Amino acid sequence: MRKIKIENMPELPYAIEESISRLRVNISFLGNDVKKILIISAMENEGKSYVAVNLWRQLAAAGMPTLLLDGDMRKSMLVKRYGMKAEDGKKMEGFSHVLASSTPIKNAPYATNLENAYILPNTENLINRGILLESKRFQEMMDTMSEQFRYVLVDAPPLALVSDGEKIASMCDGAILVVHSGETSKKLVKNSIQQIERAGCPLLGVVLNFVETSKSGSYYRAYGKKGYYYYGGSTK
Ligand SMILES: Nc1ncnc2c1ncn2[C@@H]1O[C@H](COP(=O)(O)OP(=O)(O)OP(=O)(O)O)[C@@H](O)[C@H]1O
Ligand SMILES: [Mg+2]
Repeated sequence: MRKIKIENMPELPYAIEESISRLRVNISFLGNDVKKILIISAMENEGKSYVAVNLWRQLAAAGMPTLLLDGDMRKSMLVKRYGMKAEDGKKMEGFSHVLASSTPIKNAPYATNLENAYILPNTENLINRGILLESKRFQEMMDTMSEQFRYVLVDAPPLALVSDGEKIASMCDGAILVVHSGETSKKLVKNSIQQIERAGCPLLGVVLNFVETSKSGSYYRAYGKKGYYYYGGSTK
């Protein structure tokens, strides 16, 4: 398997590491049928990619072979933000490339310098994503990858801006909704939950992100009618 080196993966503050750890543990209680998990939000900058990457790291560190699929073909930035480079020096072939080509799907994921952490990055953003995300090829990708790995985490673009998230949701076993605390309106959150559920994807939980730790003193976790609610601390 080809390998990607991640050059810039900062350590997390303790409170955030703890919140993500709780999320990881609760995911493990969901059972063996929950493998393909979408990380989604209504708007931009709510922390989807942040939650996806850190959950990925923790699942992998706990011994679960986990694939992070960079499903944001609109404005992907994982490669740049985390300093990802193919170890063989070649150009990386990412999600949109694999989706649009006929390369064997099982050869597409990359191993990384983190044990059990596999990735299919996105290296080229596309305009005609809709057709690709509705294709049989995408379904095959998700099926093959979920057989290869214990978990497939999909980092997606925002629900309120493009339809990609709903299309990806229809291929997933469940979704985690990330909500920017104090920013995203209740209406938007409600709409997002409806969009995900309409796509046939159960809501697994909500991550309330950017909660001010100074005000709350700590991080909290509560249980809601619709699933688990996690309050992630913020360094902001
Ligand atoms: N809990 C947190 N504490 C500190 N920084 C955070 C936290 N969550 C997110 N961030 C930072 O906030 C910024 C936006 O987060 P991120 O890129 O994960 O959002 P996103 O929802 O994926 O955005 P987009 O819709 O544009 O993909 C990033 O710089 C990220 O590192
Ligand atoms: Mg993102």
